[in-house]
Amino acid sequence: MTKKNNNPENQNDPKKDELESKDAFRDEAESDESDVYNIHDQIVSREKGEPDEGFEPTPWWVWTISVLVLFAMGFYLGKYSGTFGTTAHEVEMPPRLADERVEREVRGDQLYAGLCQPCHGSDGMGAPGRYPPLVDSEWVIQDAETPARIVLFGVEGPMEVLGETYNEIMDPFEHRLDDKEIAAVVNYIRTSWGNDAPEIEPDRVAEIREEHEGRGRWRASELQALMDEE
Ligand code: HEC
Repeated sequence: MTKKNNNPENQNDPKKDELESKDAFRDEAESDESDVYNIHDQIVSREKGEPDEGFEPTPWWVWTISVLVLFAMGFYLGKYSGTFGTTAHEVEMPPRLADERVEREVRGDQLYAGLCQPCHGSDGMGAPGRYPPLVDSEWVIQDAETPARIVLFGVEGPMEVLGETYNEIMDPFEHRLDDKEIAAVVNYIRTSWGNDAPEIEPDRVAEIREEHEGRGRWRASELQALMDEE
């Protein structure tokens, strides 16, 4: 199979001509091929790359921080949300006054100054004709039960104190003072202004309170009868 030679310079040597022709063809082909690659490369580099953001795996530290933040928020809500109840923002109530009174030291002098002094006076001398004196009064110093009875349930009607007769009213303290307080104030009047009588225990006050529960104000004669019994 012979190939027709188109090169006029190599017309005399067909073999050489054929070889050169082959080389030229290959060069041409190669240069064509490299051109294609070249052009393709240029096109590819001009185009934007495939977007890959958003498909990357999440870095480990993002997970770590997220988990820590979730835990922290959960802890905070658990501790401070108050289960999202309506009482979550209510201010804590102060302890009841009554409870406070029990814990506070009970002082007879203070009770006297607040509750008895307006009538019986800071010196325990009372007021002539209206409020009888407590100093040296038999009702106060003879036995401890009598003043406790008077303070608990009050007293009304004619009452002789140190030779003078009063006919007034003293209201009961049974609902205003507890046993401890009544003992304290009774002990105060029995040991003040020169009075010097033994003290009474709150337990004894409780017994008297229970014994006469529900009664009204004493009459002096009733108190006198009880004093004579003892
Ligand atoms: C509102 C005035 C008033 C107050 C307050 C008052 N008293 Fe009296 N108290 C009287 C009167 C009045 C009498 C005489 C009642 C009568 O005439 O029957 C009396 C009588 C007494 C008596 C017997 C009489 C005597 O003088 O010994 C004692 C004890 C007594 N009071 C103690 C107290 C004590 C303790 C308190 C306080 C816890 C107190 N009183 C609070 C008005 C008061």
